[in-house]
Amino acid sequence: MVQQKIIVTGGAGYIGSHTTVALQNAGYRVVILDNLSNSDKDSMDGIVRITGVRPEFEHIDCTDRTAMHRIFERHRDAIGVIHFAALKAVGESVEKPLLYYRNNLGGLMNVLDMMTEFKIPYLVFSSSATVYGVPDKLPVTEDTPLQPATSPYGQTKVMGENIIADTVVANSGLSATLLRYFNPIGAHPSGEIGERPNGVPNNLMPYICQAAAGVRECLCVFGDDYDTPDGFCIRDYIDINDLANAHVAAMRHLQSGATGVNVFNLGTGCGQSVMQLIRAFEKATGVTIPHKITSRRAGDVPAIYANACRAEQILGWRAVVPLHETLASAWRWQQKITKSK
Ligand code: NAD
Ligand code: WQD
Repeated sequence: MVQQKIIVTGGAGYIGSHTTVALQNAGYRVVILDNLSNSDKDSMDGIVRITGVRPEFEHIDCTDRTAMHRIFERHRDAIGVIHFAALKAVGESVEKPLLYYRNNLGGLMNVLDMMTEFKIPYLVFSSSATVYGVPDKLPVTEDTPLQPATSPYGQTKVMGENIIADTVVANSGLSATLLRYFNPIGAHPSGEIGERPNGVPNNLMPYICQAAAGVRECLCVFGDDYDTPDGFCIRDYIDINDLANAHVAAMRHLQSGATGVNVFNLGTGCGQSVMQLIRAFEKATGVTIPHKITSRRAGDVPAIYANACRAEQILGWRAVVPLHETLASAWRWQQKITKSK
């Protein structure tokens, strides 16, 4: 049987590499487009060790229209694109907004242009729970009104969703699925691929792992006076492998005839506070996390978690990996990268 080809932009990165594994395991042929600005080719070796298959790799910047044209012409037989390629550091986006608009929206617009020109029908886009801002009601459904984004990074997701919706209206041959991720954590259970944060991590999970490994002295817990049951912020932490599998389900849903723009929350439906996550990590790994309570971090949403029922009803997907396994995989990965440094 001829394998169907999927273009995965940003496929060398954290979510893209796990999704490539899921796609290859599901029988797709993957071509990764990445400029390696926040990743390296080691992830490709990890994918090969897990699946036995090396995805095709194109070293390319999605904002380079001429190069994108050349690559899409070469892969005009692709049936779909999963667009991960983006910069994602919220703080950096406040300092360098134009870098974020140019990279995240310029890249997306080139992808849409190429899909239109080469008649590639299916797009899956990495959106984010950040588009909900501070929600009035929990859990958030896909119909919860979007709030003004609190950072240029968040804006690129809101604007990206709108750009895709407008393009789908104008191009009847294109259908798209927007996946709003909650907080992806963990690594592949094999320990072959995982998240490689650059410098000091901004996100909680890699910071917990580095504090556990002694790479960081102490985790600062940002605020204990929120209006939540234990006073700590609440998030919906979703296993990276569950998240990766949702992309396969989304692609199949498009292939089965879904039209227009489809939107899905990808979360577990369960909120965990920062302190609950620390305690769960300690229990899952037996390692104590040195931590101290500090003041709130500007811009943090007190609590957000998903209603992910639509994904279950329509995609037949739900998060299944238990939190303790996710935390154990994150720790296994951290130990491996600490050793290799
Ligand atoms: P990542 O940085 O690990 O992966 C992104 C990949 O895209 C990297 O390999 C990077 O080199 C590449 N890239 C960036 N700009 C590019 C460009 N112009 N051309 C080609 N390649 C480019 O990040 P991730 O966590 O895997 O995130 C993937 C997507 O999911 C992003 O769009 C991100 O905004 C979104 N997202 C992530 C999270 C999260 O918490 N990780 C949450 C919600 C949404
Ligand atoms: C989680 C909780 C922090 C670090 C961000 C982006 C969002 C999305 C994912 C892409 C919060 C607390 C954190 C630390 C802490 N990315 N924390 N000490 O803020 O939900 O989302 O990443 O779209 O756009 O905003 O995730 O992991 O940064 O924080 O106490 O050292 O952990 O206050 O409550 P967040 P996070």
